[in-house]
Parts: sequence; C-alpha cells; structure tokens
Amino acid sequence: MKPTIVLNLIDAFRHSKTMFTAVQMGVFEGNRDLGVAGDRLLEGCAALGLLERTADGGYVNTAEADTYLRKDSPHTLTGYILYSNKALYPMWGNLEDAVREGSNRWGQTFGFTGGGPLFSHFFETEEKKQDFLMGMHGFGQLSSPTLVRSFDLSRFRRCVDLGGATGHLVMAAVEAYPGMQGVLFDLPQAIEFGKRFAEGKVGLVAGDFFVDALPEGDLYCLGRILHDWNEEKIRMLLRRVVDALPEGGALLIAEKLLRPENVSAHMQSLNMLICTEGRERTLEEYRALLTEAGFRSVEGKVTGCPVDGILAVK
Ligand SMILES: C[S@@+](CC[C@H](N)C(=O)[O-])C[C@H]1O[C@@H](n2cnc3c(N)ncnc32)[C@H](O)[C@@H]1O
Repeated sequence: MKPTIVLNLIDAFRHSKTMFTAVQMGVFEGNRDLGVAGDRLLEGCAALGLLERTADGGYVNTAEADTYLRKDSPHTLTGYILYSNKALYPMWGNLEDAVREGSNRWGQTFGFTGGGPLFSHFFETEEKKQDFLMGMHGFGQLSSPTLVRSFDLSRFRRCVDLGGATGHLVMAAVEAYPGMQGVLFDLPQAIEFGKRFAEGKVGLVAGDFFVDALPEGDLYCLGRILHDWNEEKIRMLLRRVVDALPEGGALLIAEKLLRPENVSAHMQSLNMLICTEGRERTLEEYRALLTEAGFRSVEGKVTGCPVDGILAVK
C-alpha cells in the first residue's frame, strides 16, 4: 500500500496558500516586487502551473492564471480566493473547535461577539463585502448558464432570485429564456454592490427574505442560500416561498448535492460549519424539507458544475 493519498493531503493546503498569497500580492497582475523570498513564491507558482518561465528568465501567467487569477479578468475567481485567504483560511485553523462545538468560527477567529445577522460578518467592511460578492459572482458564472438549462424553465414568466448577490443566476435565466423577466432581491448592502452587474438587465429589490414581502414571481431561485441557515430558518424561508408562489409555480435551488463521491460537497459542508449556521444536504434531505413546506414535485440534477440543481414545483 502506498501513502499517496496521505502525502497529497499533507501538501494540499500548501498548494492553496501559495496561490492565495500570489493573488493577494498581485503576482498575476505582474507584481515582481515581492520581497526577500519573492523568487521562491514565483518558482512555487510555476511548479503549480500558474506561471511559465520566459527565455529571459522572467515569468508570465499561464492561460488559466490569466483567465481566472487576474483581478480585472471578466472570469476572475480572485474574489473567492481573497475571501478564502483573509477569512476562511484563518477560520479553518479552528476546525477542531468547530467540530467539537458544531458552530462557526467568526467569534473565535476574529473576535466578533454579540451575535448580529450572520452576513454582517461577511460584509464587515466594503473590501470584505466586495471579495465575498465577487467570489459568488466568479463561481456563479461557472454554474449559472448550465444550471438554468438543466431544467425546462420556459413556462415561467417572472424569475425572482432571492439572495442573488450580483444576479448571475437570474441574468442567466433571463438570457436563456426570452420572454422571462427577472428580479434580483438581496440585502441593501448586496444590492448596492450587485447593481453594477444587474442594473438595466433585471429589476432590483432590496430587502430581507426572512421578513419583507417577496417580490411577485412564478419562479423563485435560492442559489447557495439554504446551506447558510439552520433548519428552523430554512423551514420559514421555504414556507414564505410556497406562500408567495402561484399554483404550478416553482423554486430553483442551486447547491452542491451531497453524494459519497462528491468530495467538493463534503468539503463545502465542513466549510459551512466553519462560516455559517448551515450545511450541505443530499437530494433526499432537500426533498423532505421541500415536501414538508408544500411543494408537490421535486427533481434534482447533477450538473457537473460547482453547484447542482433542484426544481421544486408547487
Ligand atoms: C452564499 S451567498 C449566495 C449568493 C448567490 N445566491 C449565489 O449563488 O452566488 C448568500 C447571499 O444571501 C444574501 N442574504 C443573506 N441574508 C439575507 C436576507 N436575510 N435576505 C436577503 N438576502 C440575504 C447575501 O447578501 C448573499 O448575497
């Protein structure tokens, strides 16, 4: 028996942290003024396939780095990387306590006390809000165009993306189904940021989906929302969606579906432990919650993208 799996896992966080640090230090924007051991960081990035050596001994971005690791690229994933570097990486340092206590690590890692809404931690400063929402946008662009085509949504007329961040999901739906109108609904701070992507393409409504009236629609979306919350809040939110939907209306959910072989979903479930009140679920667990809330049919689709899809019809 070879120890390959163990050796690879010993190395795994070093790979991530090397990329996080290089993004943080502007390596993929061409910064080479990196300090005493800058060469070692550049060599590490080259070994990871993020930089290539040039004939004159310098480095250039590989195609992947140029597309996903430059902050000004339309496909950038640097938002999620910066959020990972500044927030997730320190909090994952307390995974052992999270496992023992079954709760997130904002307080332990950053000294946040006194509760307050969960997203006040993610949005504590403009910079943190921007990293997080750009992170959602970058990942969303990888999934949303496929997700909205995983089901036939052509019969729906008005799609409301609840907690939609930059609106990547509702904008993909409106693009895929001419004749569909879209509304992006999110907290005021998120709408303020999201409008730079969504204004003029879909309607914008600021509000709290646990409290405020939901904008009218026959298709609601919850993209990476249910995994943030405990079951009591999920039940409340699903009931609010059912109450707002007309008969035959539907809810489109974007989440990673837990399956034994879906390693990314299991890592995300631990990540939800670290930074939220929630967790990832199997399709059967979602089906139970959706049926209890009043949906009569529930269909799941594995998309091959970072998130899978569920369509629940009232
Ligand atoms: C994990 S992000 C998912 C964003 C987006 N749906 C996606 O898939 O990229 C959670 C989103 O829910 C929003 N949110 C959190 N609490 C909310 C609330 N009470 N009412 C409305 N939106 C909320 C956040 O602002 C954020 O945009």
